[in-house]
Amino acid sequence: MPGGFVLDAPLEGRTVGRVIASRTPRLAEGELVFHRQGWRTHAVVAPEEIRRLPRFDGVPLTAYLSILGGTGLTAYVGLTRIARLREGEDLFVSAAAGGVGTATGRFARLLGAGRLVGSTGSAAKAAHLTHEVGYDAVFDYHDGTAADLLGKAVPDGIDVFVDNVGGEQLAAAVGVLRQFGRLVRIGTISQYNTPDAPQPRINHADIVEKSLRMEGFLVSNYRELQQELYEFAVPHLQSGRLAPDETVIDGFENIVGAFLGMLRGQNTGKTIVRDRTQQK
Ligand SMILES: NC(=O)c1ccc[n+]([C@@H]2O[C@H](COP(=O)([O-])OP(=O)(O)OC[C@H]3O[C@@H](n4cnc5c(N)ncnc54)[C@H](OP(=O)(O)O)[C@@H]3O)[C@@H](O)[C@H]2O)c1
Repeated sequence: MPGGFVLDAPLEGRTVGRVIASRTPRLAEGELVFHRQGWRTHAVVAPEEIRRLPRFDGVPLTAYLSILGGTGLTAYVGLTRIARLREGEDLFVSAAAGGVGTATGRFARLLGAGRLVGSTGSAAKAAHLTHEVGYDAVFDYHDGTAADLLGKAVPDGIDVFVDNVGGEQLAAAVGVLRQFGRLVRIGTISQYNTPDAPQPRINHADIVEKSLRMEGFLVSNYRELQQELYEFAVPHLQSGRLAPDETVIDGFENIVGAFLGMLRGQNTGKTIVRDRTQQK
């Protein structure tokens, strides 16, 4: 977490809150709002700092932080704007059991993806992905080298790689991408704690010879697609074809453990901390 972090100030983070007192007619008491004031039980916000949450019948409140929030939007942008996924195309997704990875898998299925392969850190998460999320095959990246495991999982190659991890899995994916393949760079979690560690070599000739495209993005540059995400995802949530994957931890006092647990792979889907005192 380099730069920009101040000691003795709450960490930034996406939050759903309820207005408990208001000094402006633009925010009514009781209203549900999305804001980024982060790790605190109460926040003072101005109307321009919040987004009013639309309420959709049958959609749980936590979904506004998971599949309908920044996490879902990241997956949606990755597939529709960066990969420009076409029906029948085969995908590989790293950190497939996380917030972005589960949303990517579920959206890819709805968008008509072909074979869907993921990587994760445990057999239990792999089972969740194949039984619930819609992945065809999932490997545990601890079981061997990424090149071997991925080679076996996708013997005929892939069209799209959605990468949350970087490092070895990224280098391996370049090797199995087909001609005109796309590499969507979302995150580099394998390097967050070891930014100076040597990186596996990517075969740059492959990028030329297979006409690959690698593109990274920040979801904050795509906020205008929030409404489009609602229009795409909400009907599927309401019909039951789509479900949010979440690890919900009760108690604001557990927020640090929840964050560290997410980095260590203790979560399945989006990690959400619920402040018991605010529940209604
Ligand atoms: N570009 C953007 O705008 C944007 C927006 C949101 C998130 N992100 C990035 O997207 C990625 C996923 O974020 P998320 O919020 O959805 O988190 P997440 O996937 O829910 O949680 C992180 C997961 O990464 C896996 N992991 C941890 N260390 C690893 C390692 N060394 N190698 C491989 N996997 C490892 C763990 O699962 P396992 O059990 O599989 O190890 C863990 O559950 C992160 O890199 C994040 O920074 C980017």
